[in-house]
Amino acid sequence: MIERTDEERALIAEAERLFPTQTRCLTFDPELNFCVGKAKGSHIWDVSGNEYIDYLLGSGPHVLGHAHPAVLEALRTVPEGGTSHLVINEHAVKLGQKIIEHIPCAEMVSLHSSGSEATFFAMRLARVYRKRDKILKFEGAYHGMNDYAMMSNQWTMGAPPYPNAAPNTHGIPKALHDQVLIAPYNDLDATAAIISEHRDELAGVIIEPIQRTFEPRPGFLQGVREVTTNFDIPLIFDEVVTGFRLGLGGAQGLYGVTPDLCATGKAISGGLPLGVLCGREDIMSIANPKRRLQMLPFSMQTGTFSSNPVCASVAVALIEEFEKPGTYERLEEVGMRVRRGLQDAITLSGIEASVSGVPSVFEIWFCKDAPYDHRSSRASDFYKSVRFSDLLLQLGVLKAAEKFFISAVHTDEDIARTSEAFQIALEQLAKEVA
Ligand SMILES: Cc1ncc(COP(=O)(O)O)c(C=O)c1O
Repeated sequence: MIERTDEERALIAEAERLFPTQTRCLTFDPELNFCVGKAKGSHIWDVSGNEYIDYLLGSGPHVLGHAHPAVLEALRTVPEGGTSHLVINEHAVKLGQKIIEHIPCAEMVSLHSSGSEATFFAMRLARVYRKRDKILKFEGAYHGMNDYAMMSNQWTMGAPPYPNAAPNTHGIPKALHDQVLIAPYNDLDATAAIISEHRDELAGVIIEPIQRTFEPRPGFLQGVREVTTNFDIPLIFDEVVTGFRLGLGGAQGLYGVTPDLCATGKAISGGLPLGVLCGREDIMSIANPKRRLQMLPFSMQTGTFSSNPVCASVAVALIEEFEKPGTYERLEEVGMRVRRGLQDAITLSGIEASVSGVPSVFEIWFCKDAPYDHRSSRASDFYKSVRFSDLLLQLGVLKAAEKFFISAVHTDEDIARTSEAFQIALEQLAKEVA
């Protein structure tokens, strides 16, 4: 039973007064909004001291748990040498080396402060390389908050016919609306046809190799790779979630498909602001400022906090943890067990639901068949999703709005308590909707 102190209630009220965003708004029960007190490992506590098993994990970064000792150690020592300098530093160099060592497509790297920045700069590089403007993305994919990314993402309701895009927010200039083309994820024939028809306008194709929690059908990523290679159109993998989560080589390592550019960073960020862009040398080097002096096509992509030493040192420390034998095996095992608990609870409750995803990131859908793209996911009952999250939270289990993020440090007890919560929540939901 969650109890909230007056102190926490006052903080939440003040946060709502101060910030238009940032409170947990996707709930039917405003009493469930909370203010974080602290987090450690796989657990998070609100200011009133209520404890939750955390499958939100800061929206994904804490694959090795909150406040990991390696992260805290880097944060204790590195800032003594200054927290940002704009000029390059040894921590950024080490991180660049690690990225190139592990990510198959990485020949050069640039370090930024968010995933949104990394995808934004990837698309700009593609435009300069191709001397064309349009970007193809997939319906329902999320690539961050930049104007090009905020088209036909997972919050799209009414979908215009392919390849037309629908803006997901007001404020995107009309002139940009037709600069983004939309294809259906997991439909290679339709995608190849759109790419082929628009090849003379396309600058690049951006894709989440696992879109949200939809796994690519066998041959889909390979097919997209082939058609983009044929037309020399840069293929950008958005591995902001999958990078270092699915393994040291991310989704490209797992599926054996190498893109031209890759945006990544969450899993090695330790929760600090980090976005990594990497890829083919001939494309990445378009960002070299010498080109401006040589009057060559140039993509400017820097910022006050780019290559930040504190963020880079945390990322190096986390990659060294990921390199230790057994880390990914444990992550996979935890994910399979939590997912099995969810599947068993679905069966026991008799509720119509399915699960999509991979062991370390998956989602429950309230429809019979697990969706494979944005349009098939619309069959899911949104009311039940939100209510299920609320019921879980009341039982001390916090999930992300769209998925369960798994960490390697969820304990056996966490898994057992989570399975129990799944059963109680789904039985309750089944009764409510009967
Ligand atoms: C696949 C993907 N791309 C890009 C982003 C944007 O990253 P950021 O929130 O760091 O801007 C996210 C964030 O969740 C993401 O999931």
